[in-house]
Amino acid sequence: KIVVLDFGSQYTQLIARRIRELRYYAEIHPHHISLKEIQSLNPAGIILSGGPASVYEKGAPQVDAGVFGLGVPVLGICYGLQLICHLNGGRVAASGAREYGRATLKARKASPLLKGVKPGQVWMSHGDKILKLPKRFSVIGVTENSPTAAFADEKARIYGVQFHPEVQHSTQGKAILKNFCSTICAMKPNWTMSRFVEEKISEIRAQVKGERVLLGLSGGVDSTVTAKLLHDAIGDQLTCVYVDTGLMRKGETDAVRTRFKKEFGIKLEIVDAESRFMAALAGVDEPEQKRKIIGKLFLDEFAAKAKELGHHEFLAQGTLYTDVIESVSVKGPSQTIKSHHNRVQGVLDMIKAGRVIEPLSELFKDEVRRLGLALKINRNLLYRHPFPGPGLAIRILTAVTRENVATLREADAIMLDELKTSGWYEKVWQAGAIFLPVRSVGVMGDNRTYENVIALRLVTSEDGMTADFAHLPYEVLAKIASRIINEVRGVNRVVYDISSKPPATIEWE
Ligand code: XMP
Repeated sequence: KIVVLDFGSQYTQLIARRIRELRYYAEIHPHHISLKEIQSLNPAGIILSGGPASVYEKGAPQVDAGVFGLGVPVLGICYGLQLICHLNGGRVAASGAREYGRATLKARKASPLLKGVKPGQVWMSHGDKILKLPKRFSVIGVTENSPTAAFADEKARIYGVQFHPEVQHSTQGKAILKNFCSTICAMKPNWTMSRFVEEKISEIRAQVKGERVLLGLSGGVDSTVTAKLLHDAIGDQLTCVYVDTGLMRKGETDAVRTRFKKEFGIKLEIVDAESRFMAALAGVDEPEQKRKIIGKLFLDEFAAKAKELGHHEFLAQGTLYTDVIESVSVKGPSQTIKSHHNRVQGVLDMIKAGRVIEPLSELFKDEVRRLGLALKINRNLLYRHPFPGPGLAIRILTAVTRENVATLREADAIMLDELKTSGWYEKVWQAGAIFLPVRSVGVMGDNRTYENVIALRLVTSEDGMTADFAHLPYEVLAKIASRIINEVRGVNRVVYDISSKPPATIEWE
């Protein structure tokens, strides 16, 4: 495998991803792991990522210079290249002009790294330049503004590129990464999801041995895939805990029960916490307060169940790479940590003690879905829309009650049903009904009604960061509206949200 050492670049995740796309296996580790740890990973090659720091600054992130003596090929990218230069006796300094954006790479010298790579566009993003090359190194590629866009010590198999081969804009990037893996590291492109499954299973077995593992289950894609993988590895040593907040979609808790107990045969504990959630949320209409109450109560309920079940040596979580990177800085444990529910203090303590299993932590969402397919999980389940942790509570724009949850749940179920029938479910990123605490006048038969409004929020998006309202055909909208008004008591009007994000958000709270 390729070990990617992370120096904090926003693109580090992409390096591993591109390599996996080429069917070589790559995993990311923080730059500060020890030489011994690196060796124990048994890498076929090491990649030093980019990063925001400058190598000549005090406190700039380092790597044990021993990596250059392991006899394992090394590729430095951007900051990685500068670090190679710095640690091998070269000189790096601030460049007068920052180089950012497109550049054209031209080979200067025959090198296996650039073999077959056509002159092409690469993506630059740096403010430092090489003043003096280390001994034994020579330039193998240049761009208009970079006389050392790529260098190499061919004998030691140490390479550096100033640009980012991992980003899409670098048209020649994949070819370069492929050369590194195939020719220089002599790896075979035989990595597949089923191999990942086999490797993870034996890793989990080796770690867990005869001990017990507890997993908090939400029923979403990540926790489902984690549960199935763990169960394939350790069977009944795994227990899953699902907290029913009473804020889930229609039929969700029953579906979870059937799927996990009957279909997968996994030990599942369901905590019926609806009444406690309702009591805690009574009279609360401020969105942030709602979120806080739900988050805390959720953890309390999980902890209480865990205690009742007795000691479990390990806690498992479906944390993804993107979750980790948003919550932990590469600069080490002293750095401030943004709050993510998978990284609360108790969990951090357990991570330190080596008691947390996060088998998806190297993967991206689409990779998790493919992993799920390899584990024979139903495709519909793997490709379902995202659903927020706080559930229907943040789609009710007033204090939550059993009644308004029930109303929203029915309207939401009708909307989903019609989306699936019309084939629009797969075309939208996310869909939800919103309960508005607004009443309007209507007429049903000969009678005046004075009832609530349901808003429909359907968006298209790549990643949830930006979004457009889904351009649903009027016929589909009409069908959803008429069914909701006819079938859900207490609703006499349906409206469509046509805001984009930004400036609006996807959720209303
Ligand atoms: P916004 O409303 O910020 O939502 O545009 C972006 C995406 O994040 C989801 N979301 C949440 N997911 N816990 C979650 O697990 C939350 O508290 C939460 N808030 C928003 C939202 O559903 C959308 O996919």
